[in-house]
Amino acid sequence: MNPFQIHLPRRRFLKATAAAAGLPLWYFEQMKSFGASPKPLGPNDRPGIGLIGCGGQGRGDCNWAKNFGTVIAVADVDEKQADQAKTQFKAEHKYGDFRKLLERDDIHVIINGTPDHWHTLVNVAAARAGKDMYSEKPLTLTIEEGKRLVKEIRGAKRVLQVGSQQRSDGKFRLACELVRNGRIGKLEHIIVGLPTGPREGPFPKQPVPPEMNWDFYLGQTPFVDYNGKKAHGNFRWWYQFSGGQMTDWGAHHNDIAQWGNGTDRSGPIEFDGKSLVDMIPGGYDAASKYRIECKYANGVTMTLLDDSSVHERGVVGEGKRTPNGVQFLGSDGWIFVSRGEIRASKPEFIETPLAANATRLYKSDNHMGDFFDCIRSRKDPICDVEIGHRSISVAHLGVISVRLGRKIQWDPVKEEIVGDADAAKWVGRPMRKPYDWSFVS
Ligand SMILES: NC(=O)c1ccc[n+]([C@@H]2O[C@H](COP(=O)([O-])OP(=O)(O)OC[C@H]3O[C@@H](n4cnc5c(N)ncnc54)[C@H](O)[C@@H]3O)[C@@H](O)[C@H]2O)c1
Repeated sequence: MNPFQIHLPRRRFLKATAAAAGLPLWYFEQMKSFGASPKPLGPNDRPGIGLIGCGGQGRGDCNWAKNFGTVIAVADVDEKQADQAKTQFKAEHKYGDFRKLLERDDIHVIINGTPDHWHTLVNVAAARAGKDMYSEKPLTLTIEEGKRLVKEIRGAKRVLQVGSQQRSDGKFRLACELVRNGRIGKLEHIIVGLPTGPREGPFPKQPVPPEMNWDFYLGQTPFVDYNGKKAHGNFRWWYQFSGGQMTDWGAHHNDIAQWGNGTDRSGPIEFDGKSLVDMIPGGYDAASKYRIECKYANGVTMTLLDDSSVHERGVVGEGKRTPNGVQFLGSDGWIFVSRGEIRASKPEFIETPLAANATRLYKSDNHMGDFFDCIRSRKDPICDVEIGHRSISVAHLGVISVRLGRKIQWDPVKEEIVGDADAAKWVGRPMRKPYDWSFVS
């Protein structure tokens, strides 16, 4: 057979696949040579999966995970949510208290889709019960939690993959590899564009729905009356449970900024944040429009900005309005990457292949598959516990600076706020009993 009959359609297929992934063909081909995609385990070695937190994202993750294992049980403090998930995954068991699910020996893997303020206690309990975890981002509610969690996971030798799935998207990896290899010259500044948060409220008190254990839902956070704008999806607009878009999308894009800067096991040394709009009294209280200037010890500076604001050094976006994504600005040009695209000041930045000896980053093209691969190999996954903790520490420090309305200095080695005892208090928060560390011991 004429080899062209095979070669041409295959090349056309590769080109089309690369284009669909938003990647140049050379990178797509190089990526393929850097390791095979994960394969589901055989029918006899499928780990048992437990889903904790059965909202939209937990169910989405679990749907992905079931390619690699068998869903045995689900847990949620809202019985309606648990019922829906139990039916969807044909799970045999349902629990209101996740600790009961963790007692099961036939469960090896946890999908943690709880709201942010529950992530850490669930992860610590799962580690102590000998489970591996796919935990949703933002990994923690506070920096103090993150420091403790890293020790717990390392001590128990568990595999924890953080749900920052952008790391397993070739566009983000390509952008970071190009920046790390000096394609834009010396990296000078990073602009992280995050969505503008909602500005709504106040909201009237409502009766707690009968299917919901509201006290358990609130967990470690102060007791407050129920209203629908505090739960299910909306928790993220309240400082009590989260940090607004700065921790929600910030968990994703700060992670990429740190990866491209080569500081993903460290962090900036200075944060200067401000809220650009007053919050409505009694309404959502996580900053909705905000700007934070950060400095790294390597001289790189970074701005975290909401996407309704204009950045004077912005390189893409209408009127240079900050788009959702990460802009890397260097001495020779720029690269912008978002979930939809990667582009650069000069097309050749992206079109020219990297040299064979270029610095390469961890390769994964399937975030969940990488997790299950690591369960078998016992190696760290692409977004391990420390990386997840460091990425979200950037957001937490940004939130602290915005809330205090002043500059703070950070020591990324000791992981301490320097020279500001009042600000230093905010690296942790008081935990309401009984939902403190003793709840999972
Ligand atoms: N990786 C991503 O792209 C991505 C996208 C969306 C959400 N997320 C993250 O996923 C998490 C969940 O988000 P969501 O939008 O699905 O929220 P959601 O409110 O829809 O779901 C959370 C669920 O957890 C339950 N829950 C609360 N406390 C619990 C506890 N102690 N034990 C068991 N269940 C408990 C709630 O009742 C609810 O059913 C968040 O941390 C969010 O940041 C990640």
